[in-house]
Amino acid sequence: MRILLVGGGGREHALAWKLRQSAHCSALYAAPGNAGIAQLAECVPIAPKAVSELVDFAKQNAIDLVVVGPESPLIAGIADALQEANIPCFGPSRAAAQLEGSKAFAKQVLAEVNAPTASFAVFDDPDAAQTYLRERFLERPCVVKADGEALGKGVFVCETLSDALDAVEFLMVERGLGEAGTRIVIEDRLDGREMSLLCLTDGQTAQPMPPVRDYKRALDGDRGPNTGGMGCYTPLPDATPELIETALNQIVRPVLGEMARRGTPYRGVLYAGLMIHDNQPSTLEFNCRFGDPETQVLMPLLESDPVGLALSTIEGRLHETPMRFASRAAVCVVLASGGYPHEYRTGLPIEGLEQASQWPDVLIFHAGTRIENGRTVTAGGRVLNVVGLGDTLAHARETAYRAVQQIHFEGMHYRGDVAL
Ligand code: AMP
Ligand code: GLY
Repeated sequence: MRILLVGGGGREHALAWKLRQSAHCSALYAAPGNAGIAQLAECVPIAPKAVSELVDFAKQNAIDLVVVGPESPLIAGIADALQEANIPCFGPSRAAAQLEGSKAFAKQVLAEVNAPTASFAVFDDPDAAQTYLRERFLERPCVVKADGEALGKGVFVCETLSDALDAVEFLMVERGLGEAGTRIVIEDRLDGREMSLLCLTDGQTAQPMPPVRDYKRALDGDRGPNTGGMGCYTPLPDATPELIETALNQIVRPVLGEMARRGTPYRGVLYAGLMIHDNQPSTLEFNCRFGDPETQVLMPLLESDPVGLALSTIEGRLHETPMRFASRAAVCVVLASGGYPHEYRTGLPIEGLEQASQWPDVLIFHAGTRIENGRTVTAGGRVLNVVGLGDTLAHARETAYRAVQQIHFEGMHYRGDVAL
């Protein structure tokens, strides 16, 4: 099969690496890819948002399967456009991708099926939102969220009422994130430990992947600003089979049932961001795609054929295609540019990649890299994902950090406490 992979980050490098291993993959293209993906696929300079260009490329190049990494093309309807062209696409339709595209939509679906999630209210008017906050904050802290697509920047977990009022001002009055803040969701703040539960689903059957813990803050000890993700690990000692079954029964399956009932079945990866408190899951959010960096620890453990799984998902045959993972541990450490998530320099040469990738049980997935005059240089905020595998979390962690020591670029920073 001729496969087109959409995206160019660490998640897509991990997907490309796995797709390449499939006996069904005869040709792999990536749009736009990165320096790491270029070793596995032919990279084409089309941005993930350029949906009609991607569809034209797929038609002109006899693509048999499109695998979509990021959310924006899915929310923009790439799966629908490809379906019209009779090209199978792994990823939900535009209507189903609303579970990520609109936080108000996701909360309404969760409420419809009584799935556990924080109490919430939706506002189109800043004055009404601020009046609600003044009352609600007397009882408990709140979280203010832009309804629309905000590239991970639209959530404000507020300590004080004044922070929350400022967040409303920023989103709705100043339009700091543009259209994304036309509508907002305000919800109660939840305490506990977060868990990413990614499920593969054809709209009926849902198969959970091993739960992953993601490190969102820039600095050790969960300090510093939020980022796209500084590392992650699996398995989670606190994610018992009972907890996962509860999350599937109370959240994932009812939501999939409701999406099907509405005539917009959800097919692809449904990523449930959960908060675990007293061994009970509550839903923080949904993503309509694989996680980044979660995918970088999941793909190395996946034992099943990824192309077979993708086709079963699209064709509604997932019940006959079990998804198997190795019962090993994986730890991913993200190497970021100095200054990230704020301003940073690019074009800095990266040393030690070859040596580090020769260690056994080490995989290096590129995020923001490019080739310049024959050298691999930095090209983004998150630059590399160093993954260590092992029979225990401690081994996987040791392996990942040993490889990290081999790699260097000016200003490089990473968290030292992943999986600690
Ligand atoms: P989201 O973009 O909705 O995933 O939110 C980003 C992050 O904000 C989550 O991963 C949590 O760390 C945090 N967050 C979102 N909603 C809540 C909530 N209700 N209570 C506490 N933290 C939250
Ligand atoms: N790791 C968080 C995300 O993919 O949204």
